Amino acid sequence: MDSAQEIKTRLDVVDIVSEYIPLKPAGTGAFKAPCPFHQERTPSFYVNRPRQSWHCFGCDQGGDLISFVMRMEGMEFVEAIELLAQKAGIVLPKYDGEKASQRKRVHEVNDLAVKFFRASLQNLPEAEVARAYLAKRGLDDLTIDLFQIGYAPDSWSVLSEALAKKGVTESELLAAGLCAKRENGSGVYDRFRGRVMFPITDVHGNIAGFTGRILTDNKEIAKYVNTPETAVYKKSSVLYGLEKAKGEIRRLDLAVIVEGNMDVVGSHQFGVTNVVASSGTALTSEQLSLIKRFTKNLAIAFDQDAAGNAATLRGLDLARQQDFTIKIITLPPEAGKDPDDAVRKNPELWKQAIKDAVGVMEWIYRNSFKGRTASNPEDKKLIAKDILTEIARIADPIERDHWLKKLAKDLDVSEEALKEALKKKDGNAPRATNHIASEKKPAVQEKDTLEERVFAYTISRPDMFRLAVETVHPDDFKNPSLSSLYNRLKLGYAQDEINLNDPVISGQTIRPPATLSPDEAKTFDALAFMAERETQGQPLDELKRELNTAVGQLRVQRRKYERLQLEQEMREAERMGDQARILELLKRFQALN
Ligand code: UTP
Ligand code: MN
Repeated sequence: MDSAQEIKTRLDVVDIVSEYIPLKPAGTGAFKAPCPFHQERTPSFYVNRPRQSWHCFGCDQGGDLISFVMRMEGMEFVEAIELLAQKAGIVLPKYDGEKASQRKRVHEVNDLAVKFFRASLQNLPEAEVARAYLAKRGLDDLTIDLFQIGYAPDSWSVLSEALAKKGVTESELLAAGLCAKRENGSGVYDRFRGRVMFPITDVHGNIAGFTGRILTDNKEIAKYVNTPETAVYKKSSVLYGLEKAKGEIRRLDLAVIVEGNMDVVGSHQFGVTNVVASSGTALTSEQLSLIKRFTKNLAIAFDQDAAGNAATLRGLDLARQQDFTIKIITLPPEAGKDPDDAVRKNPELWKQAIKDAVGVMEWIYRNSFKGRTASNPEDKKLIAKDILTEIARIADPIERDHWLKKLAKDLDVSEEALKEALKKKDGNAPRATNHIASEKKPAVQEKDTLEERVFAYTISRPDMFRLAVETVHPDDFKNPSLSSLYNRLKLGYAQDEINLNDPVISGQTIRPPATLSPDEAKTFDALAFMAERETQGQPLDELKRELNTAVGQLRVQRRKYERLQLEQEMREAERMGDQARILELLKRFQALN
């Protein structure tokens, strides 16, 4: 058995897909979700367990679990195989794939570095300051273990020397970003020195890089040093803690976004585990698409000092454009400056703050009044300006009206004045929800032809297929690939390649013969998905009637088409004066009716 085959026997497509996106049941063995590969609101992405495949009617793509991981992770075939083999616990034979093995090597080198930093933290006398620092920050041993927190000794070379003994070369240290080249002379030096080390994992738990914090509050040196861009680490797509948080994010259908790594660690220690850190920047589109695999609901906690500033707001725009539902968490003043402070003062403060999160409009509304006096005319203008900018983005007229009324009351100005001010803004304000209206509907309605529907009916249930072999002919399908596939199925049935009593779950499509070519199998799969979608829960006799009607329509259509064709040929023959041909065509024409 080759690796791909072995992976498919050990892993389940439904499990793999639901690691990325939340699936909802859609009939026996079937699941659906909004497609992760294109923007949509109503789910047209289906996964089928008995057939171990997925299909999207919107973007008309489909395949097995390997192709799903390839598309989802942007991976080559071998990379996807490697990732899945790891999950399945399969040891792969060596294969080519320079890029994949390079990435793998960086992960290995990073693993060795984690071991080194962990051992340093536990054993080195010099690490006492680090141990004391972590204790001062309230981290218990379990949390330190869970996040694999370590210590990089204050030296330019101990890490590289230790890893060299394990067979890691200088160029591998550079490739992992653990070392940098010396400016004068040859050789490399350790990038992280005298810092508490936080490994950063990718969504699967591979060590992608590190962030190292100094042990003091010295403002002269960078508080955090991060791994530079490497084959496996890209700052803009890191979400610290995602690998540990993803399960809970999916379960609660909510991701709490904080700014700092310490906020994630502290939060976990006190049992709030659906938390990830954006690492001090506005959410990027890469980070958002990672989160989107697990939820569309965000609760964002900004540090107190950042709340309300323009950059913070702009950071939200991307998420809003991508259809996330966003709430903003505000820490009470006594909680400190960030979630980590809050959780250490009292975990309940943090938990309550998450519960009390409010929508973006509400949050902006409240913030606009902060530090201003609503009765002061200058402040009035500023408050109105901030809030109207936001109101202008609301597409729903009733919601707009609600906020306008409220603002008029709170500022003690007339609604007319506000509406006038709003009109001036309206021209250039982008509506947050505008793109939804223009979102294209799945192309499926136009695309599935009558022929495809007939085909889908024939395979929709074993009993439907039994009926079809008697009543539907391969010639009924004009589309050559449908015609030959149908012929192939009929033959397969005649030769016992299709067992209609076999593991059929009631209400499910027939199982295709194992000997279909890859192209045939793909076509069959797409049709099976169509069958499931169209015939779900329909009683058999109703289906049979529909098949008969559809086949009837198909034949009528076909005769009409053939007649047109013959008429055209006849005109041609008349123009040429070909009597024999005219007679022959006439005979065929009469035979049609
Ligand atoms: P903060 O300064 O809020 O960090 O920066 P923090 O997590 O609260 O750290 P403590 O509590 O002082 O230990 C937020 C995030 O921004 C990134 C880090 O990822 C940090 O967690 N950052 C900050 C850097 O990358 N470099 C820096 O110099 C500072
Ligand atoms: Mn902090």
